[in-house]
Amino acid sequence: MNAENMEYLTIALPKGKLFKLSSELFGKIGFTAEGLTEKSRKLVITNEEKKLRFIITKTADVPTYVEYGAADIGIIGKDVLMESGKDVYELLDMGFGKCHLMMAVPKAQKRAKLTDYAHTRVATKFPHIAERFFNAQGMQMEYIKLNGSIELGPIVGLSESIVDIVETGTTLKENDLEEIAYIMDATARLISNRVSFKMKFERIHGMVKALRAVMEQEANA
Ligand code: PRP
Repeated sequence: MNAENMEYLTIALPKGKLFKLSSELFGKIGFTAEGLTEKSRKLVITNEEKKLRFIITKTADVPTYVEYGAADIGIIGKDVLMESGKDVYELLDMGFGKCHLMMAVPKAQKRAKLTDYAHTRVATKFPHIAERFFNAQGMQMEYIKLNGSIELGPIVGLSESIVDIVETGTTLKENDLEEIAYIMDATARLISNRVSFKMKFERIHGMVKALRAVMEQEANA
């Protein structure tokens, strides 16, 4: 790790649903930077006084930046973290960004039981998690990797089912899909690069303690 990297603590924040809650929580422990907004066209936002650097990346890329040490710390959903298979430390369950992963099918073509879907096509952003789930059920499936709007898959005949996250259930409802199998719960996690965790232990440890204190305070409020 070079001297400049040692001097700064670099935090990767995902665009999208987790950005606002993550940046707000960091703000509560004084980890702020001028111009830190999701819409910022500037991709690295620095707080010189506190030697903090925020980078804003695509959600699925956060574990990659952290694994390679381009960011020391990151915030990411457990679902995306598990799917990535990246070798990072998971330091804290932040509690927000609650959702669950599940399998859904078009209501109108619902089959009698889960195993009736064996050997059919499933559209998903999470092929690794999906495969582990179906293997555990003894089901072989064909996985079709999509990058968004997964619910479209069965509507246009690309797949018989989807494996995706559900937060409020609105997207399933609006597309006449029904959840038929629960896979796992997910919340936002604070992750760290393994080397950074050792080299910047004091800073990272202090940050985790401060975040935990804020979270406990809010839980008891
Ligand atoms: C996620 C997910 C569902 C939706 C679920 O998509 O893939 O489509 O949110 O939320 P709901 O249960 O509250 O309706 P996201 O908005 O992240 O965009 P994407 O479809 O482009 O991945």
